[in-house]
Formats: sequence, structure tokens, C-alpha cells
Amino acid sequence: MCQVLFLLTHDPNIRLFFFIVLIVSLLSCASASRRDACSLTPAEWRFDCYPERGVVVTRELCEARNCCFIPVSPPSSSATRPSGKNGVPWCFYSQDFPSYSLVSLKDTVLGQKGKLVKDVKTYYPGDILTVEAEIRYETDTRLRVRITDPSSSRFEVPISVPTATKKAENPDYVVEISKQPFSLVVKRKSTGAVLLNTAVAPLFYADQFLQFSTSLPSEFIYGLGEHRSTFLHDFNWNTLTMWARDVPPMEKTNLYGVHPFYLAMEDGGNAHGFFLLNSNAMDVVLQPSPALTWRTIGGILDFYVFLGPSPGSVIEQYLEVIGHPAMPIYWALGYHLCRWGYSTSNNTWEVVKSLRNYGIPQDVQWNDIDYMDKSMDFTYDSTKFDTLPDLVKDLHAHDQRYVIMMDPAISSTQPEGSYWPFDEGLKRGVFIKDAEGKTLIGKVWPGLTAYPDFSDEVTHEWWYDNLQKFHEKVPFDGLWIDMNEPSNFLDGSTNGCPSNSLENPPYTPGVLGGLLRAKTVCATAQQKMSIHYNMHSLYGLMEAKASASALKRIVPKRPFVISRSTFPSQGMYSGHWLGDNRSLWKDLYTSISGILTFNLLGMPLVGADICGFSEEPEEELCVRWTQLGAFYPFTRNHNAIDMKPQDPTAFSPLARTAMKQALLLRYSLFPVLYTLFHHAHVHGHTVARPLMFEFTSDVKTYGIDKQFLWGKSLLVTPVLDPGVDYVVGYFPEGLWYDYYTGISMRSKGEELKLHAPLDKINLHLREGFVIPIQVNGDVVSFLSDSPLHLVSALSDDGSASGDLFWDDGESIDTYETDQYAYIIFNVTQVLTLSFSLAEKILPSVCAADLILIVITHTSQHVNLHTLCLNLFVSAVGYL
Ligand code: NOJ
Repeated sequence: MCQVLFLLTHDPNIRLFFFIVLIVSLLSCASASRRDACSLTPAEWRFDCYPERGVVVTRELCEARNCCFIPVSPPSSSATRPSGKNGVPWCFYSQDFPSYSLVSLKDTVLGQKGKLVKDVKTYYPGDILTVEAEIRYETDTRLRVRITDPSSSRFEVPISVPTATKKAENPDYVVEISKQPFSLVVKRKSTGAVLLNTAVAPLFYADQFLQFSTSLPSEFIYGLGEHRSTFLHDFNWNTLTMWARDVPPMEKTNLYGVHPFYLAMEDGGNAHGFFLLNSNAMDVVLQPSPALTWRTIGGILDFYVFLGPSPGSVIEQYLEVIGHPAMPIYWALGYHLCRWGYSTSNNTWEVVKSLRNYGIPQDVQWNDIDYMDKSMDFTYDSTKFDTLPDLVKDLHAHDQRYVIMMDPAISSTQPEGSYWPFDEGLKRGVFIKDAEGKTLIGKVWPGLTAYPDFSDEVTHEWWYDNLQKFHEKVPFDGLWIDMNEPSNFLDGSTNGCPSNSLENPPYTPGVLGGLLRAKTVCATAQQKMSIHYNMHSLYGLMEAKASASALKRIVPKRPFVISRSTFPSQGMYSGHWLGDNRSLWKDLYTSISGILTFNLLGMPLVGADICGFSEEPEEELCVRWTQLGAFYPFTRNHNAIDMKPQDPTAFSPLARTAMKQALLLRYSLFPVLYTLFHHAHVHGHTVARPLMFEFTSDVKTYGIDKQFLWGKSLLVTPVLDPGVDYVVGYFPEGLWYDYYTGISMRSKGEELKLHAPLDKINLHLREGFVIPIQVNGDVVSFLSDSPLHLVSALSDDGSASGDLFWDDGESIDTYETDQYAYIIFNVTQVLTLSFSLAEKILPSVCAADLILIVITHTSQHVNLHTLCLNLFVSAVGYL
């Protein structure tokens, strides 16, 4: 309680004295009542007012920001916030912290546009006191909000997104706008669920500090790549920093890619999505209220809300904005073998031959930087890799493919006239410049290097020219683009970086190393489209785009590109591998959430290094990993330099056989997998799919990241622990068929213990689905004449359905140009099949009930023969 004493007197000195007392009392009264107000904010609703790392947040510092200071435990002078440390903030915004007010609002063709103003500057420089908020009702299930600076243009992410032309007529959402302070609430019309509520914390729009927060309807949040975490994110004051970075995956660290998108579940099983279209370094803070804060240091605030309402439809809506993933070339589905440290091309070749001898399926052999002359792109070591062209010839003769590593950084120290890629690059001006306009020099495998600026079309042409010339020597089939964060063994450049607010922003998100330039180029570096500060996390995307388009010109087939760094929309150009994992059981487990997350992010062609990259796997781990890896959408075994070989032939006959079996199983499922990729490409579906996508009403599935589905129908339950011959898996309610025995079990939605000896990965087929499979006699390269089998898992009423997409496996845009077959299988009680043919290339169908479709393939085209023969139907559950 505050009490102020009033005294009437005519003595001016006494009056002055009491006036001062009055002011001091009022101030302390205000601050006391403020403290009272502060203490009313529950801990989980405190939004951090002092997110800077490495600062001892004292009361003085905090109150200088006009924020509430309440230490969570007794303050000690040594209490610091080390970088990356999370916890209840001691210093947080008060309820009346200044924010923007909406001073005018007008209707537009797509919605509304309002002017927001703020009277009081915040503590970050470059406050933009007048901003514009545009609310676009783009479709019934998609809302877009853009907050921009009307007085000057700011950096915007250069990816193409749909342009809406008219306002959604019957949106599934309502938007409520508050004027003072300005805030937005987005609700689902049908349930009233609040999907976004920005009133929970002030809006910031300073030049290098843009921030807003929202409450969330639940703690079930997925996405927000690229991070090492469980599939379901942790809300215990968890900061996820985004800034592309070359670092072996570890928790609470910014990794190779940036994907500011989340999928959220609501009560009752509805789902929505949120995408912040921003590429600047940012923190995403999750706190237990539950609430989420977006804190970025550049660009604009441009975000989408997707209404779903199913998780799958949220992803479809997200991919409509960022672009659908490319349809992979068929051989991409095969087994890929790689390692860093094949000492010679002959050594690489020996391994290929050894796999052939053992009948282990292998479609693709890769080489890491070892093949290069002094680690330089577009060269090969003519001593150790002298037989490389012959190896590639041999691979092609066996219907196998060759994928080659390309790092972006180009050696800058070769004698003039001896290294065309650099000389020509300089001539064409393709390299990133430093702040002074000189070629920025960093350091990667070949030593000192320059970095191509893939935001410039000229660079794309130069990249193509180099690839094309090299392809004449070594006719590679696909590209592995690594180190494209871009990675630099130095911080910034050989000359350091200037000291200014781009290099040392007023606020630096929790990037590893504490500096934007840590192990990359300077933030002040200049690229054609903008400064690196804005472009950094787009580097992988732009290199992938250049690589895919070059490859398409060189080999006019679907380009195969696998990239380490990624950004939204990259699925259109490349797949991804999860980087430098370790040969540990934990990494086996975390690979599942990585794979599921990238499926949500529009990059379904994703896999982790099977058996682990660094360290050496014990045999059992490598077997279990090959079994799980057989169900990664992209399946590659890769190993670090100096580690023992870990390809299947390096292990005991028992292990080798188990691995072979797992890979053959995958190969037999190619028709299912290929069809799933078709749906990803055309409809934006996921390939590897979390259980909660299919069983949204079963909350027990929400946190599952030890099992996953292929599409709707195949449930994979891998062993993730050493020394066991069983695995416990969750089976959502319904009938499930053991894939191998056809034995059915009815689950009430329960965990079941499954037998899992070393040579078995548990696989179950969900009732009601037909899957097309192909059992090969042959092992190398799937595409043989072997017949298609339909495996049908009947539901109680005796019905099941499934589908098949088929084309020549390699031509570009077969779907778009009608060069495909799409077949729907319906099995009913009496074992009849009806085919819904998406016409196009299938000839007439037999009238008979029993049909075998034999689909044969040559590398040029597909021949489809519909034959009236015996149908190979394993009608599990029927017979
Ligand atoms: C880093 C990549 O992540 C790894 O896969 C590769 O083997 C090394 N670079 C060497 O090129």
C-alpha cells in the first residue's frame, strides 16, 4: 500500500521539501504497484524482455527497459544467462509495455490493411514507429498477414508464393483485430479454438529486431526444423534458433537447415499450421503457457496460418505455398552406398563388386571429396582415381548409377590459367564479395576458397558449364551438395569482417558460436540479391536450384540432388540427408523424428546416414540401422573418413544376410513407395508419416516417434535398442496384419510386444488397404519384368483399396504431361478387383476378375501389358 502525506504550509522551502517527498513517494508507489502487477503474471506467461545471452540481468538493466524483474531463485551476482540457457525469464514485459496501436483500417480486395503506430521507442535501435499490417484472406483455409514498413522497402524472401486475387468467400477462420494495443486473434470458426493470439506480448518492429508472440491451443507442436529433438517439441522454455550451420546434429543448436513452420494440434484432433516467411537469423521460443515467440533480426513479418483441419491437409496447404516436392527419379528409391575415405576408385569399385557378389541390392554408388584432385570441385585425382570413368561405365553397364560430391567453395589459390572454375568464375564475377567489393575468401577442404553466389543467374550458368564439362569426363548421374550453409573453416573470411551492426546486431539469436559469421562467411558479404545477413540461410536452396537445373540440362531426366542445407521450397529441387550423425543407438532413434519432420517440411526424400557417420557401429547397431534405413524414404549408408568399412559386406554372414533381407524387402515395396512419392509431388502428402496423421483422434499417437507409417497403410516398428529380440510398439485401434505371416490382430489402441530377432523388422499392414509390391528375383536395380503382386489387408467388411502410380521412372513431368498410369484397386467381399484407370497409357483391361498386370520397364519407356492370368493376390485376412 502507498500512503502519501499532504501538508499545507506557506513556507516555500518546506513546500519544496514536501514536493520532492511527494514525487519520490508517487514514484515508489507506482513502482510498487507495478511490481504488484508484475507479480500477477504467472511464470509460464512471462515473455522474455532480456533475451540477450551472456548478460547478468540485474534489476537496473531490466527496469531500464521498463520491464518487470522477478528473479526466479535468489539473484546472485554471478547469475548469468549463458548462451543457449533457457528458463523462466527474470525480466519480462509488463502488461502495459508499449506496443503499436491501430490508427486506421481499410478494406482491401483480399481483406484489410491497417496503419500501426507506436509513440514510445523501444530499447532496440532503428525502431520503425509506423508500420502497415495487411490481412489477406487468401483461401478458405489460408490466411496471410504481412507487416511491412510503408516508408522503405525491406528484404523479403525471394521464393515464389501464390498470389491470391480475391478474398476467400467462406473462410474457416475469423480474425479479430484489437486496436490498442494492436493484436490479432485468429479463431477456427467451427470450434472457436484460438489458433493465434498476439495479444500476449508486445509487437516489436525495429530494423534488426522483429518480434511477436502467440498463445497456442496445445503443446503438441511439430516442425520448426532443422533441430535435433524428439518429434514433438518440448515446451519447457525451449529456444530453437534458426541460422544455417555446419555442425554435427546436437540438441538445442541451430543446424544445417532453416524451416520456420510448425504444425499444431488442437483439442478434438483438429490441426493448423503456421509459417513465418523470413530467412533472417531467428529464435523461436516455446514456453509452457503454452506460447511461442518469433524473434527475427531482419526482413519483414510475413506469415501464414493454415486451417487444415487434418494434419495432412495442413501440410498440403503449406506445400501449396512453398511448392510441392519433385517426383524423384526411380533409382533414387534404391540402396545408395557411400563413404568418405574410399582411398581409390578401385577401392570403391571393389565394394560395388562385393555387393554384387553377395546379391545385395545396390542402385547407386557415391564418392565423397576423395575423388577430387586436392579436394577441388570439377577435378578428379588422376592417380588414385584414375579408373573413375571406367567405374562409372561399369556401374551404368549394370544399370547402376553414380552420384558425386560437389562442395560450393572453389579453390582460389591455383596458378592462374590452371583452374578454369576459379579463373572463369572471377571473369564472370560469380563469387560472393566482401563489404569492400572484393572476392571474399574463406577456407574449406581445398584450402582458401571463394564462394559462388547462387542468387545470381550468371552463377547458375557458370555452375552448369563446370558441371557439363566435368560430366564429359565422369558421367555422374546425380549430385551431392554438401557444405552449403555455406561452411567456412574460418569465421567470416581471411580478412575477418567489418565491425558494424550487421556483424554485431543489437540482438544476436542463439546461434552456435555466438556470432552470425561463426564458421561461415561475413554477414556483411555482398550477394547479387542482398547482403549475406539476409541471404545466409537461403544458400543451400539456391545452390540446389542451380544444381537441379544444370543436371536437367546435362542429363535430360529428373535431376537427383541431395543437399545438406535446406530452406522451405527446396523439396522442388533436392532431397536431404540429416548430416553428420554418430554410430550410436541414440542417433538411430533420433533419425526417425528427423525423417518425419522433413516430411512435414515438404522434403520427403530424406534419410539419415545408415549405421552412423562418425564413430564405428557395432554389428548389431548396423543391422538394426539397415532395417530402419530400409524404410527411410532415401536410403544411404555413409561413413566418415578413417572409420572401418560399414557397408553390408563388411560384417558377418549373419549380419550381411539380415541387411540384405531388409534391403530386398524395401525393393519389393518400391511400387508402394513410388506411389507415395507421386502423392507427395502432386498433392503435397507425406511419404514417411507420423501415426498421429492417420489417428488424429487418438492422443496417444501424438508423441510417437519410434514408429512411423509409409503412407496410410504400412506400420514400421524398428528395434532401437541393443541386445533385445523384441520391440514394443503402439497399435492404434483396429485390425493389423503381420506383413510376413498375414496373421491379424485386433488392437484396442494398445502397446504390444513383438518378436524381433536380429533378422527381422516388424512391419504391419493396416486393415482396409491394398498395396502393390514387386518381388524380384534379381537384386541389382529394381526395374525388372517381375510381376506385380497385390497384397490386400481386408477390413471386417471384407473390403480394401489401394493404388499405384506408374511411369517410366525418369522422364521429367510425366504426370504433368499425361505420361503415366494411375490405377486404383478395390477389393470387395468376393475377391473381385475393380480398376479405376486414370487412362492415359494403359491399354484395355481384361474383363475377367483375375488379372495380373505385368509392367515391364526399359530405361527408355514403360511397357504395360495387361494380361488375363492368375492374379497374385495375397489376400491376407481373406484366405
Ligand atoms: C561433411 C558431410 O556432412 C559429410 O557427409 C562428408 O562426408 C564430409 N563433409 C566430407 O566431404
